[in-house]
Amino acid sequence: MIAGWRAVVRAVVDVPGTVMMLGAVDVGKTTRAAVLANVVCRVGRRVAIVDADIGQSDLGPPTTVGLGTLDRPARRMTEIPLRAMHFVGDTSPQATQRFLTAGIRRLVATARERGAATVIVDTTGWVEGRAGIAAKLREVEAAAARHVVAIQRDDEVEPILERLPAGVLVHRLRPHPRTRPRSGVERRAFRERQFERYFRGAATRVLDLRVLRQERAVSYAGRYIAPADVVTGLPYRELRHRLVGLADDAGGLMALGTVTGVRAGGAAVDVFAPPPLQDRISTLQWGALRVSPAGREEGRTRGAA
Ligand SMILES: Nc1ncnc2c1ncn2[C@@H]1O[C@H](COP(=O)(O)OP(=O)(O)OP(=O)(O)O)[C@@H](O)[C@H]1O
Ligand SMILES: [Mg+2]
Repeated sequence: MIAGWRAVVRAVVDVPGTVMMLGAVDVGKTTRAAVLANVVCRVGRRVAIVDADIGQSDLGPPTTVGLGTLDRPARRMTEIPLRAMHFVGDTSPQATQRFLTAGIRRLVATARERGAATVIVDTTGWVEGRAGIAAKLREVEAAAARHVVAIQRDDEVEPILERLPAGVLVHRLRPHPRTRPRSGVERRAFRERQFERYFRGAATRVLDLRVLRQERAVSYAGRYIAPADVVTGLPYRELRHRLVGLADDAGGLMALGTVTGVRAGGAAVDVFAPPPLQDRISTLQWGALRVSPAGREEGRTRGAA
């Protein structure tokens, strides 16, 4: 059954819990998520957004899951203050599913610990095919979703809805008629703008690899390279501008950086990164995508998810 938008809003206001936005690309997930967050905020309830769309990210840069909380209604997603992040390392979910799911689990839990009664999770548009269905079901489980808002043109999300755990409240919607598709070129331009915006005001810091823990293997030339061997195992052209997550002891992302140099013998790397959320960096997490300090995407190697 297709619900009216107003009924969906009422259900989300009446029943606290995590709300997962599901749908293919360009159906209006993000627009609806922002409206829901504002409505919940206006009724005086603590509301958080977890932006788990690692490509078309509004909260935090692409390749990360971001957590934002609303103190007052926001006109657009990008105005919501960023409170915490989780590093995924790529802009597409296929090869990084494990890190994306872990990020959702972590940031939904953080939002709840910080008192959010409603947590709205925005997601990627990868909902079809066996792998896409399985991936989304893991995301729903990780978020412990109470509501699923499924926006579909036809029945493309039904294979996921059919397999949801009992007790999840499902709200089916059609895309708004004014919803506008974005081309691949527009999507890339959006991501590059978001990277550029994030790196504005960044500076180079030297990270001593003898004291930092390194995480996340990298795939190169058909094999996986263990985290501690990445600097010595990859040619410089593959290291240059590789995204790295600068994380705390518990794996929480403090800043996203891009490699701009390797010191003699691989004992240290230069990383261009903005000031961290908190200066407790103990871990370097290797990403799959290469992005220049100006925000340009320069290619990827597949991570070992
Ligand atoms: N109710 C609406 N009225 C007018 N424009 C809308 C409405 N809903 C969405 N749009 C427009 O349609 C486009 C796609 O919407 P939106 O970004 O919310 O979709 P999405 O499902 O999050 O897409 P993506 O898969 O890229 O994340 C945007 O340009 C948005 O401004
Ligand atoms: Mg979106």
